[in-house]
Amino acid sequence: MLSFLIRKVKKFTNKIVIVTGASTGIGRETALAFAAAGARVVAVARNAAQLQEIAGDTILAVPTDVTCDDDVNRLVETTIAKLGRVDILVNNAGFGIRATVENTAFADAQRLMEVNFFGVLRCTQAVLPQMKKQGSGQIVNVGSILSLLATPRNSLYCASKFAVRALSDSLRIELRGTGIDVILIMPGYTDTPFFENQVRYGGPVRIGPMKGVHPRTVARAILCACARRKREVVLTIPGKFGAFLKRWCPRFLDWTLARFT
Ligand SMILES: NC(=O)c1ccc[n+]([C@@H]2O[C@H](COP(=O)([O-])OP(=O)(O)OC[C@H]3O[C@@H](n4cnc5c(N)ncnc54)[C@H](OP(=O)(O)O)[C@@H]3O)[C@@H](O)[C@H]2O)c1
Repeated sequence: MLSFLIRKVKKFTNKIVIVTGASTGIGRETALAFAAAGARVVAVARNAAQLQEIAGDTILAVPTDVTCDDDVNRLVETTIAKLGRVDILVNNAGFGIRATVENTAFADAQRLMEVNFFGVLRCTQAVLPQMKKQGSGQIVNVGSILSLLATPRNSLYCASKFAVRALSDSLRIELRGTGIDVILIMPGYTDTPFFENQVRYGGPVRIGPMKGVHPRTVARAILCACARRKREVVLTIPGKFGAFLKRWCPRFLDWTLARFT
């Protein structure tokens, strides 16, 4: 156990890691976990006060809106100016909309895609020239189990996460031989402010009494995926079971989702 931990710590010593959506939830735990494992972390989100809570010797807070070109360019310029390189980008910023396809306001749909999909594209395009110059790097995209199966009243969110999976798959092939890995993390239900932050058109904040995993579990999976250079990781037992049903019993999955979500 101890040797595993030491190996893991060594793996990230002096690595420069950008984590988007680091003010709360999975991103915050991921920033803290990389910092604890020896990395120098650039923590990114819009809420500067929340970023400051984790800022310190190993975590630099750079308030950034991932929907804004100027912000994202400034983020990468600041990282390179202060820390010299970018080893890992974790594209984690995102939010959800709980509404039927019919009722979703177009403006909400566009804003969601702007953060969950174009935010990933924008940050990825901004770091790629530097990673190519280095001849190494890792781009970690936080999708969801909903990158693999779609649930009702969640269509735009699912569409954004399917799109992140497609982008990851294409990019991984395009980057073959460059030394840059593309890793897709697909968390299941995780206990974060995500549900409170969703744009909701009615209905409760959380569906059902099921408890999600702690965001630290997802953070650990991200570090482990980077250390082992994995392609994809599906998290949580219900998440894995859902992916299994989608593949082998899609009609039964639809019936279950219609009844229980
Ligand atoms: N919780 C789950 O069950 C679950 C499951 C699967 C996947 N995920 C995914 O995991 C990721 C993190 O979610 P979470 O659960 O940790 O939720 P969260 O606590 O609500 O975190 C979302 C983060 O995204 C940031 N963000 C939102 N819009 C942004 C923007 N325009 N620019 C920069 N940052 C922005 C938020 O910070 P600011 O508001 O300060 O900008 C916050 O730090 C998301 O991509 C989500 O889709 C979550």
